[in-house]
Amino acid sequence: MLEKLLAKCCVKLERKRVGLWVLFSFVLVTVSLCTVLKSYMDPLPIWEINLRRLNSNNKNTVKLVPHDSFEPFLAPMCNFSGEKSDYCEFNGDIRIHGNSSSIFFSSPQLENIELQENRTWGIKIYARKTDEHVMGQVKELLLKPVLSVQEMPKCTVNHSVPAIVFSTGGYGGNIFHDTSDILIPLYLTSLHFNREVQFLIQDKHYYWNERHEVTLKALSKYEIIDLNHDKEIRCFNNAIIGVQSHQDFGIDPEKLPYGLTLRNFTQFIRKIYSLQRDTAIQITAEDDRKPRLLIISRKKTRTILNEDKIVAEAQRLGYDVEVIDARMSLKNFSKIVNSADVMLGVHGAGLTNILYLPENAVLIQVIPIGLQSVSKIFYERPAKNMSLKYLEYEISVKESSLIQQYPIKHQVITDPEIAKKAGWPEFKKIYMDNQDVRLDMSNFRTVLVKALELLRQ
Ligand SMILES: *[C@@H]1O[C@H](CO)[C@@H](O)[C@H](O)[C@H]1NC(C)=O
Ligand SMILES: *[C@@H]1O[C@H](CO)[C@@H](O)[C@H](O)[C@H]1NC(C)=O
Ligand SMILES: *[C@@H]1O[C@H](CO)[C@@H](O)[C@H](O)[C@H]1NC(C)=O
Ligand SMILES: *[C@@H]1O[C@H](CO)[C@@H](O)[C@H](O)[C@H]1NC(C)=O
Ligand SMILES: *[C@@H]1O[C@H](CO)[C@@H](O)[C@H](O)[C@H]1NC(C)=O
Ligand SMILES: *[C@@H]1O[C@H](CO)[C@@H](O)[C@H](O)[C@H]1NC(C)=O
Ligand SMILES: *[C@@H]1O[C@H](CO)[C@@H](O)[C@H](O)[C@H]1NC(C)=O
Repeated sequence: MLEKLLAKCCVKLERKRVGLWVLFSFVLVTVSLCTVLKSYMDPLPIWEINLRRLNSNNKNTVKLVPHDSFEPFLAPMCNFSGEKSDYCEFNGDIRIHGNSSSIFFSSPQLENIELQENRTWGIKIYARKTDEHVMGQVKELLLKPVLSVQEMPKCTVNHSVPAIVFSTGGYGGNIFHDTSDILIPLYLTSLHFNREVQFLIQDKHYYWNERHEVTLKALSKYEIIDLNHDKEIRCFNNAIIGVQSHQDFGIDPEKLPYGLTLRNFTQFIRKIYSLQRDTAIQITAEDDRKPRLLIISRKKTRTILNEDKIVAEAQRLGYDVEVIDARMSLKNFSKIVNSADVMLGVHGAGLTNILYLPENAVLIQVIPIGLQSVSKIFYERPAKNMSLKYLEYEISVKESSLIQQYPIKHQVITDPEIAKKAGWPEFKKIYMDNQDVRLDMSNFRTVLVKALELLRQ
């Protein structure tokens, strides 16, 4: 479809193109002439040399890689010891030029410091800093400390509120990573500003702002700026470059900003999405409402092959069942999830939607072969920290589709740890991308019953 659209647009453009080229060439010649003349007339201001140097892959850039030592003068302003993210906070005169990914800053903290001439520092701010694969796709931001205002480009826009610059990085667009690596860190970093903060986004993923509009608007009242396409020189008195991030899909109340928990975050999410239910139903003798079971249905990988059997069994046990596949707007989807008392799904990003469940609801995570440890990290702890109840169902070998691909004594089936040693891509291919499950109903039934018991407590 995209190709068709492009074809259509470009036929039309073709006709205009010749004319445009003539005009364009004329403008170009004029501009070039002016530039040449101008450079004879007066020397380039220092800030412009600075900008040009930053634009041209400067070999004086010092990379600030995780765990690396860095210039001591940055220590009071930056923290590079977090497990997930690097982070700087500048006060003073900060000027951000998106087009060259440059951040100039001059600050009282820089007085008495001997800056090496032409030095810039590169920093990557996506909150998954030890993941080399994804960090390789994240653009570097250049930090340029300057001592005098003459070395700074002129402000074209003055902002009166602080800035937070964050990146949606290589995994932006995946609901787990959007939540774990971007939205929770952004919440931790920006909540205390009470929406009086300007967000600037680097490496913006297609549709990202639209998809997460509700959360972004709840944290900042200003139109978000797409840094990669911003030609302005934006000036701030306070800027945070990077975000606070504590752990995968989690918040540690002992870390900055101190005292917030994952439960605070889910309360916040329920409020901003106007979700009605704060707690799941409590089944009592008098209350004859049916508990609602929501099955998160995966269609391409890690599919439940006998979903219909589960639906029938759950109905027999007294559940009101809904099967859903997670592709719709978050506004609509969050309401459906919030209406559930039990959510069931195979380990995968779709389980991130536990965010919208009412407290005391039950998450049932189905764990395919090989995925025990990731399942614990990604959904067990988070679910418990959100005040949800948690059940898991580890499938047995005969419930995995892997037995159709490998002999039953094959290492892939008997010892997934060995495949792990072959590296993540290989492991993912076998256990995540090529494994479906067919649940043994007589075993799985006990989990559905247990969930009902939890709703009675
Ligand atoms: C830097 O971050 C680490 C990890 O989040 C934290 O333990 C430490 O207290 C921070 N240091 C400062 C000076 O804020
Ligand atoms: C934006 O950056 C590109 C190179 O990265 C440069 O060619 C262009 O002149 C810049 N535009 C502005 C308005 O600074
Ligand atoms: C800084 O850049 C200027 C202009 O390109 C150059 O003349 C000077 O030698 C550089 N200084 C250092 C220390 O690299
Ligand atoms: C920004 O503020 C500075 C200092 O107050 C002022 O000189 C400059 O004209 C302002 N620029 C714009 C574009 O408003
Ligand atoms: C976080 O949760 C605690 C305990 O429920 C509550 O006292 C506190 O006010 C919450 N903080 C915010 C910022 O919502
Ligand atoms: C969301 O719900 C509204 C109203 O209930 C409906 O009009 C709209 O089509 C739904 N959008 C999606 C993407 O499901
Ligand atoms: C989150 O869960 C972990 C593991 O269950 C637990 O150790 C930790 O205390 C919990 N944190 C909060 C704030 O509930």
